[in-house]
Amino acid sequence: MSTPPLLRVSRLFKHFGGLTAVDHVSFELQSGEIIGIIGPNGSGKTTLVNLITGFVKPDEGKVFFKKNEITKKPPYTITDMGIARTFQMIRPFYQLPAYKNLIPSLFSPRVRRLVGGKYGDRDAVAMDILEEVGFERDSSVPYKTARNLPHGYLKRLELGRCIALRPEVIILDELFSGMSIAEVTSTIPIIEKLRDEGIAIIMIEHRLRELFQITSHVLALNFGRKIAEGTPEEVLNSPHVKEAYLGSTEAAEGEIAC
Ligand SMILES: Nc1ncnc2c1ncn2[C@@H]1O[C@H](COP(=O)(O)OP(=O)(O)OP(=O)(O)O)[C@@H](O)[C@H]1O
Ligand SMILES: [Mg+2]
Repeated sequence: MSTPPLLRVSRLFKHFGGLTAVDHVSFELQSGEIIGIIGPNGSGKTTLVNLITGFVKPDEGKVFFKKNEITKKPPYTITDMGIARTFQMIRPFYQLPAYKNLIPSLFSPRVRRLVGGKYGDRDAVAMDILEEVGFERDSSVPYKTARNLPHGYLKRLELGRCIALRPEVIILDELFSGMSIAEVTSTIPIIEKLRDEGIAIIMIEHRLRELFQITSHVLALNFGRKIAEGTPEEVLNSPHVKEAYLGSTEAAEGEIAC
């Protein structure tokens, strides 16, 4: 018998006026699995994340997390249940030092409940998490205000904020965009470690070569619709995906990837 999914998205549909942003998309995510979601600009990836995490309410469809229906619940409830996300347009507390950006997560009701109010020195925990996402502990970087951090650090700060929430699902909306190749290379093992700890991860990515290093299960969207699902090879070989990316079904697989 197959394990029930951790997250089940069923026929989510959202339109903005005459524009259909997400068109009856369904998929399932298991604990400890990484799923990649790809698609051209404007294909509905971020809207799908917003529908799952409660930032946008669907017109139709349902979302289940651990068998509980979470459709249309507010974002703070969904986060409290264990689904954390990063934002494509990052939203740090720019005026706070990097490590202080994690403090709201560490004082969240979820973390208090899980840790039993005995976390000790939260600044120290924040520092440990920042080190985990690649901030040099013995440097000035964790103490810099977010406004003074390079973009690649801000993206990793977003990941740290998610980790601090001790989630069961993390949704990464283009985490790699704006990162240098060295930053992406050092972030991949961090994501794999989270997966190995049992966290399920959804990665929205345009950087396909790097995405395909860490996931073997990919969905492709176009005009809000799921046009392919399977292994990276299966998805890249789909004529719908070739057409979505290149406007031609004649295109070779390698041309899409990178
Ligand atoms: N709040 C909104 N109001 C109106 N239209 C919206 C809104 N949010 C998204 N859209 C539209 O819905 C479509 C899907 O947008 P979405 O941001 O989900 O795409 P995406 O796949 O994340 O794109 P990208 O790769 O550029 O991040 C786009 O046409 C976008 O303009
Ligand atoms: Mg987007």
